Amino acid sequence: MSALDHIRKLHLPDGARILDVGGGSSVLVDALLRENTSWSITVLDISQSALDHAQTRLGSLAKRVTWVAADITQWIANDPVDLWHDRALLHFLADASDRATYANTLRTALKPGGIALIASFSLNGPEKCSNLPVHRYDAQGMLATLGSGIILKDHWLMHHHTPSDKVQEFQFCLFQRV
Ligand SMILES: C[S@@+](CC[C@H](N)C(=O)[O-])C[C@H]1O[C@@H](n2cnc3c(N)ncnc32)[C@H](O)[C@@H]1O
Repeated sequence: MSALDHIRKLHLPDGARILDVGGGSSVLVDALLRENTSWSITVLDISQSALDHAQTRLGSLAKRVTWVAADITQWIANDPVDLWHDRALLHFLADASDRATYANTLRTALKPGGIALIASFSLNGPEKCSNLPVHRYDAQGMLATLGSGIILKDHWLMHHHTPSDKVQEFQFCLFQRV
């Protein structure tokens, strides 16, 4: 199942606010724009060039997205969102203090009842991503990282095949802010 398939199952309402952190090099934004024109979508990434590339790809549709070039560990959330999506950003946060900041930012950024869909390398996943060391998770580990006020609703493993046909095991978790 794709990220969009998982998001469809959430039945987000018209006007929902969605934040894709580390989404600069992802085409999820394209799919979200097609899925519901009333959704308000923000893509945050530390890489300005990834955001530039996405905006060029989307052309005039890029105007419908809020683009934020920021380090998630430095960013201050202001407009609470219905959905926080993160595929393969959290596992880059190797320092415990950065993970604690991420968790605080997520809690602030999510509306009460809001959902976080987060995927990282699993405990069986690679030890590095883009040549950088990663912090790997199982569902309980990710829940412990996010801390209080967040409940785990669902979790599953996914095997991703890279273009060079390596298999990377991802841990997906669905959380809700209480
Ligand atoms: C492995 S890519 C995943 C991209 C996309 N989410 C996907 O699933 O295809 C990780 C992304 O996270 C971004 N990233 C890494 N550390 C970050 C940080 N501290 N704050 C914001 N973005 C970060 C990178 O620039 C990159 O675009």
